Amino acid sequence: MPNTSKHSLAILNYYKSFGVETHIQNKPRIRFKNYSYNESKKEILNDQLKELEKKMINLDCELKLKAKNFVFYDGLSKSNIMIIGEAPGYEEDKIGKPFVGTAGKKLDQMINAIGLDRKKNVYITNIIPWRPPNNRTPTENEINFFLPFVEKHISIIKPKILLLFGNVSSKSLLKLKDGITKNHGKWFNYKNPFLQNKIFTTCIFHPSYLLRIPNKKKIAWEDLKKVKEKITSLRIKT
Ligand code: URA
Repeated sequence: MPNTSKHSLAILNYYKSFGVETHIQNKPRIRFKNYSYNESKKEILNDQLKELEKKMINLDCELKLKAKNFVFYDGLSKSNIMIIGEAPGYEEDKIGKPFVGTAGKKLDQMINAIGLDRKKNVYITNIIPWRPPNNRTPTENEINFFLPFVEKHISIIKPKILLLFGNVSSKSLLKLKDGITKNHGKWFNYKNPFLQNKIFTTCIFHPSYLLRIPNKKKIAWEDLKKVKEKITSLRIKT
């Protein structure tokens, strides 16, 4: 067995004979172990989310007067995949998290089928943060009112891929003339004024729509497979 301390000393003396006084490593040494780069990045992200949440909660908006809870997000803020739906329903309003009712269970099944999971690698939000009474479709005014906040939200998360579930998020964020029936499964380069880089974005049928019209599931599955292919071809970390 080699005497390691003798061996190390010999190497050090060898370097010293060349006049080498300092040893520079290939990788940076983390001197502040409790305050690593990743942790400070996470802190900044959480601060930005808290600031956005505070701004939104204080908005003057009719919907909040009738809703029980503000529904902001679920999932992991460091995710590379961001999902945007329409608005909270009854269960979401009760619990304060997006996609936790029947549509949420369907959404989980859909994303689980391509290796995504809200507890591990996705971030989920909606266009509208308060439940519209009786689950009605949000009005154009309501959508336009919240759009800049959703745009800011996207720029904080900075996902590599954006998945827009349903007509409301697809049409409003991508400024589409035609609805999701014509545009599902296509790839768009999404950009907004807060973003520096474009984001690969696609539209997928809303889980509630699939629950109502199950024969569209096959099309949704083809679209989900395209998402999986994109994640693989771009080597996106999930
Ligand atoms: N439908 C949505 O679009 N979002 C939810 O959070 C729940 C149902």
